[in-house]
Amino acid sequence: MKDLVVALTGASGSLYGLRLVEVLIARGRRVHLTISPAAVEVFHRELDLQLKLDQFHPEQFLLKQDPMGLNALLGALKPLPAPNARKQAIFGSPEIGSGQLYYHHFRDYSAGIASGSFLTGGMVICPCSMGTLASLATGQSQNLVHRAADVHLKERRKLIVVPRETPLSLIALENMKRLAEAGAVILPAMPGFYNDPVSISDLIDFVVARICDQLGVDHQLSKRWGADASQT
Ligand SMILES: Cc1cc2nc3c(=O)[nH]c(=O)nc-3n(C[C@H](O)[C@H](O)[C@H](O)COP(=O)(O)O)c2cc1C
Repeated sequence: MKDLVVALTGASGSLYGLRLVEVLIARGRRVHLTISPAAVEVFHRELDLQLKLDQFHPEQFLLKQDPMGLNALLGALKPLPAPNARKQAIFGSPEIGSGQLYYHHFRDYSAGIASGSFLTGGMVICPCSMGTLASLATGQSQNLVHRAADVHLKERRKLIVVPRETPLSLIALENMKRLAEAGAVILPAMPGFYNDPVSISDLIDFVVARICDQLGVDHQLSKRWGADASQT
């Protein structure tokens, strides 16, 4: 199985990115992670997590406090782990898979993922800000997120962009069109409601499931439409 690249940027929806990393690790994948400085601000605002980009450690992903009741929502209703199990998921355990997480600083252009010769199974930018979207659409490589995405496009590898903004300006729409034409998959953070979601966890997993499908990562995060019919 090839390594995967995940980038977290400064759009709202940090939980999508956190859950994605967790699921990929739990599925035994090697994940190369890079984080933009703006994502740090959003993670702090939305999840009360303080990511330290100069001294990153996966422990920083553990939800400590619970200002929005997220642990209860995530832990009680779905197999999305409460902090202890989440720790296991992030660090890997025999029961749930043993992927590995490699962190790369956003200024580290010497990282493997900055080069086309480093083979990967694809890259996801989740969530993706409109700023990063614009940088990708115009081929700017001002940080490792942009550079790794550019590499995926030039090598014709899967690049999945998960934009979050509303409403969308014409500029954002045009940037998405440009990226789609260049081969990227535009997969907006737009959960569906037809599977009767009962928690934030269900909505998050709806989007993460679609990302996993694009990456070819096996999962049971959400019910598949039509699955009931095919089993009878
Ligand atoms: C709490 C918070 C929420 C934000 N939400 C969004 C958002 O949903 N979409 C977006 O495009 N930008 C959002 N921004 C603004 C971006 O973080 C900002 O444009 C930043 O420069 C993006 O940088 P990056 O693309 O390098 O991460 C948000 C900023 C903050 C502080």
